[in-house]
Amino acid sequence: MDKFVVRGGNPLLGTIKVSGAKNSALPCMAAAILTEDEVILENIPQVRDIETERKLLESMGAEVELGYGRAQHRTHIQCAILSDPVAKYEIVKTMRASSLVLGPLIARTGIARVAMPGGCAIGGRPIDLHIKGLEAMGAKITQDHGYLEARTDRLKGAHIVFDKITVTGTEDLLMAAVLADGETLFENCAREPEVTDLAALLTAMGAKIEGAGTSTIRVQGVAKLHGARHRINPDRIEAGTFLIAGAITGGDLNVDCCDPSHLGSLLSKLEQCGVRLDVGKDAIRVRSEGAASGQLKAVNISTEEYPGFPTDMQAQFMALATQADGASTITENIFENRFMHVQELNRMGANITVQGRTATVRGRTPLESAAVMCSDLRASASLVLAALVADGESILDRVYHMDRGYERIEEKLRGVGAQIRRMGDVFGKK
Ligand code: EPZ
Repeated sequence: MDKFVVRGGNPLLGTIKVSGAKNSALPCMAAAILTEDEVILENIPQVRDIETERKLLESMGAEVELGYGRAQHRTHIQCAILSDPVAKYEIVKTMRASSLVLGPLIARTGIARVAMPGGCAIGGRPIDLHIKGLEAMGAKITQDHGYLEARTDRLKGAHIVFDKITVTGTEDLLMAAVLADGETLFENCAREPEVTDLAALLTAMGAKIEGAGTSTIRVQGVAKLHGARHRINPDRIEAGTFLIAGAITGGDLNVDCCDPSHLGSLLSKLEQCGVRLDVGKDAIRVRSEGAASGQLKAVNISTEEYPGFPTDMQAQFMALATQADGASTITENIFENRFMHVQELNRMGANITVQGRTATVRGRTPLESAAVMCSDLRASASLVLAALVADGESILDRVYHMDRGYERIEEKLRGVGAQIRRMGDVFGKK
């Protein structure tokens, strides 16, 4: 099982490049199910979840070519024939986002069998709102032996108001609606940039969608969709993680190939914290004197749906808060169990207490190196950030969590001066 060895103390200097967004690429790859033509996606990140999605699509009969190498992060997907429209448990259990094939499968074939996604480390992760929306569009849904089966002759347009804002719920049902008979009006939709990115691909494929990126989306169903070529958005969470890496190490880092317009709430919190930012068109320069300067100030954050402070940046910000002077409160409103990084940070010398959904971080506490355990994707990132400023050499175990959503992060960080290396067999050595 891979580990990272990280020696703290180096300020990060230079330019670090952001890859394509995993959480855009996953729904966009699923969208290829909606047509028999070829769909070409560029700027695909080389991460484990993308490999999992490739296996999932191939298991249903799709042809998937996934090119990596330095020059191209591209995938060609063709679902000419979907011989086995089943998302099997062996694959779904490793990636909850597999539920994103439910909507496109039933829209394209009239039948879908998808293993119910178990929960995961950060929460129960139900998909009841996906199911409710498909039933409103006329799908008959049954459950047996841990599988969901959805059947319909043809989905019908409906008026769907989401009880809760759900990112993949919005994406899944959007993909169902584009081939439905008639108009579908969605209200209380997720406004994340990943939803907008998916809608851009669907529109390029011939779908008729208005309002993506707002809480109200209107879809006119069409009979057929055609292939398209689409470039995936930059990963805003990877960009935010690197901004915090520059801030926490007292560096001067240029985070390149990002979209600053997707990072508004994080940028304002970083500025409140005392970090200096120069925001360009597709890059952000972050400078900080580092914790020892006393420049970092405590701030309070509360995770909200986009455009609020992203839950996927909560753990990373908590690492920074340990280096700020004063008490920061961090409230997690989206998931019920997303504080697993707390005890690991405390083992490194942080002073964090949790009361219900709110963690209080009392800084500044110098961090000491330690052997720590990664528990989920973003908690892992938080531990890397802490290790970059800890005194001595830390060992981070179970970094396969990071490989799900960060492309070659140890190489990228080493490229700007971090002392980090991977031990054990390397995932996806290309
Ligand atoms: C997406 O997950 C992201 N994953 C998550 O990123 C992200 O943390 C999350 O959105 C919130 O921004 C992908 O896009 C692949 P939700 P998703 O449905 O869609 C409840 C990462 O780190 N809910 O918006 O699964 C749910 O329990 C991952 O890259 C229902 O109750 O999240 C949660 O409390 C982690 N019923 C809340 O809604 C449903 O049917 C928001 O979940 C669906 C969701």
